Amino acid sequence: MSTRESPKVAIVTGASQGIGMGIAAAFRRAGYAVVGTSRSMPLSDEPDFVTVRGDIAEVETAQRVVERALDRFGRIDSLINNAGVFIGKAFTDYTPDDYAKVSTVNLAGFFHMTQRVIRQMVAQGGGHVVTITTSLVDHANSTTPSALTSLTKGGLAAVTRALATEYASRGVRVNAVAPGVIQTPIHDATSYAGIAEQHPLGRLGAISDIVDAILYLERATFVTGEALHVDGGWAAGH
Ligand SMILES: NC(=O)c1ccc[n+]([C@@H]2O[C@H](COP(=O)([O-])OP(=O)(O)OC[C@H]3O[C@@H](n4cnc5c(N)ncnc54)[C@H](OP(=O)(O)O)[C@@H]3O)[C@@H](O)[C@H]2O)c1
Repeated sequence: MSTRESPKVAIVTGASQGIGMGIAAAFRRAGYAVVGTSRSMPLSDEPDFVTVRGDIAEVETAQRVVERALDRFGRIDSLINNAGVFIGKAFTDYTPDDYAKVSTVNLAGFFHMTQRVIRQMVAQGGGHVVTITTSLVDHANSTTPSALTSLTKGGLAAVTRALATEYASRGVRVNAVAPGVIQTPIHDATSYAGIAEQHPLGRLGAISDIVDAILYLERATFVTGEALHVDGGWAAGH
């Protein structure tokens, strides 16, 4: 996916653990230079991997990440909007703090970073943005109420299509991956009871399932505006 002389460059948000850590590792194995960011990101300044600490909800974080990518590697080819938070509870139990946290991380984080990165991609003549949404956008489930997830990730699914059409003529593809339940630190282990069976394929997802989907989209040059479900059939029905 790259040449030794001029590696492609990817930004991965939420790269300190879980799916994001797996994505960053996979892009490095594929020969990309990677800029990883999160609040607790271990500091790194390797030839192909630099990190920036910051809260993705704050505009300054996006500014610093993009500046670091350009200072260090000179271009940005891919952005993986992975950082996100999940608060599952009944709609009427959500607090104003819950709303502020989920909306700023999931939406403002996407907005600030993607706006700056697409500006750079347009100047370069192209690029690829992938955002992690959720299968709950297309197939709500009353046994796992999480309306703030639907509210924010649903917006990300819609804006994926909007940006795909707005920027297609300038060479920027915009896609999403919609996971089912994936085994990562976002969930405590006890919360998995009975969840595997809710996926028609009868198992939980692995981080590698999501990574494989992103790598597919990365090389799928005729695919844009797509939300690729990686959910064991969850969104298809039960
Ligand atoms: N796991 C699932 O079943 C599942 C299902 C559907 C969708 N997803 C989505 O997949 C993505 C990754 O989930 P995951 O399971 O890998 O979650 P995770 O293990 O909890 O990791 C979340 C990542 O986001 C970062 N993050 C959280 N809040 C942040 C903030 N304010 N500023 C900067 N970074 C922040 C965390 O790093 P720091 O704590 O260091 O900031 C961490 O690196 C999320 O968008 C999630 O909604 C997951």
